[in-house]
Amino acid sequence: MTERQEFEATDIAASTDPKFVAPERKVFMRTYGCQMNVYDSNRMTDVLGPQGYTATENLEDADLVILNTCHIREKAAEKVYSELGRIRKVKEARALDGKDMMIGVAGCVAQAEGEEISRRAPIVDMVFGPQSYHRLPKILAEAATGKTVIETEFDIDAKFEHLSAQAAQPERKRAPAAFLTVQEGCDKFCTFCVVPYTRGAEVSRSVEQIVTEAGQMAAGGVREITLLGQNVNGWHGKAPDGSTWGLGRLVRRLSEIEGLDRLRYTTSHPRDMDDELIDAHRDLKTLMPYLHLPVQSGSDKILAAMNRKHTRDEYFRLIDRIRDASPDIALSCDFIVGFPGETDQDFQDTMDLIRRVEFGSAFSFKYSQRPGTPGATMTDQVPEDVKSARLAELQALVANQQTAFNASRMGMTCDVLFERKGRNTGQIVGKSPWLQPVPVDGPDSLIGTIQPVEITGIGSNSLFGRLVAGHHASVSSTDAIKEAVFDA
Ligand code: 5AD
Ligand code: SF4
Repeated sequence: MTERQEFEATDIAASTDPKFVAPERKVFMRTYGCQMNVYDSNRMTDVLGPQGYTATENLEDADLVILNTCHIREKAAEKVYSELGRIRKVKEARALDGKDMMIGVAGCVAQAEGEEISRRAPIVDMVFGPQSYHRLPKILAEAATGKTVIETEFDIDAKFEHLSAQAAQPERKRAPAAFLTVQEGCDKFCTFCVVPYTRGAEVSRSVEQIVTEAGQMAAGGVREITLLGQNVNGWHGKAPDGSTWGLGRLVRRLSEIEGLDRLRYTTSHPRDMDDELIDAHRDLKTLMPYLHLPVQSGSDKILAAMNRKHTRDEYFRLIDRIRDASPDIALSCDFIVGFPGETDQDFQDTMDLIRRVEFGSAFSFKYSQRPGTPGATMTDQVPEDVKSARLAELQALVANQQTAFNASRMGMTCDVLFERKGRNTGQIVGKSPWLQPVPVDGPDSLIGTIQPVEITGIGSNSLFGRLVAGHHASVSSTDAIKEAVFDA
């Protein structure tokens, strides 16, 4: 047994010993960036529970602060340093009351910048990368001795084993919609992207690990799972019989799990969108009609410079195949404007691609030079004002398409999985099959159930609707509406 394993075994023994009572403490967790960070933050909170930590939304109350960071664009990384400035003041104020505050920086900025963080922000006690979360008790214990802990090893297998062990713990009540990481890292090396450096090489969890975790989630009340991976449709996991499955086969298997009514996955790469996965969209009611399939640019020249490994024509053909299988699908995308060398014509090629595909929604960004990526040293960087103008033009087009897509849902009845209370009293909010939030008037008792909703209005992101009594929606399985709704 290595030293590290020994330490972890001791922690687990302490936290599972019925006589062990951890002191009550509060953790303030701030999550930046992608959904995988949201998943990781939740798992960190799970790990901290047996150490006596409960979550707080109030920074002033926190004995421990963790910033789970994103390094994808410069702005995202800089936000961390300005947040640390704010936290320093709170830490100093707490110190005057004799209270301590430990500060940890986790996630991709931690992985990429390591010690540089504690040099720039000496108040930081712990810096740990995305693959060290399961070791948090040890990291905390070390930091408590006054030492600054820097942990940026890549040890993805250990993290995945730990996630599976956590999933096997006694059932607990969960939110109706949840994330499940199936794959981490990326081998694609797009020339603008830090992910292959911050999250490392692509690693897939096994079929058994995923099916077990999904089963536990369903038993705890989860009705919808979004499978996560930086390159999720590149997932290829070992099955119990030793064969290797692709994502299409995995979603088929997961759709057999009792109580699991909805599946989604994100983020996909066009190159890994195979027939099996496209067929799953045609065949499985559980697989929601929504696909986030970033293309980044509509210019072949820029796609090649980005090392995207596909052309615009290949993307068009892929979209045709996907729409043949699932005509109603909402397509979503990521675009980068102002990649080095992007001319007006290249940008117009992107606009043309958007017009031809017609997206239900999209995310778009100005190119940001990331240290260590090939794009950062390319000549022909595009001036900031040109990037801003292109972004505004692109976003106006996407906003029109989003409105048009939402408007096409007017009058339809669709299934909504209700996830939480709304802002107004008597309101609950769920998600449509196409991922828009849907607020309706209805009782809290419907949270965690799927109900048919007639769409009666649209917002820029949301669909507005009303519960339909006795109607059976066609998109996915529907719960019987409770008497309370008929009476209301
Ligand atoms: N600059 C701007 N946008 C980027 N993205 C990734 N790297 C960069 C960068 N250097 C965008 C891509 C990706 C999304 C998650 O973030 O569009 O799909
Ligand atoms: Fe980054 Fe490209 Fe990998 Fe996506 S596919 S994570 S954009 S390198």
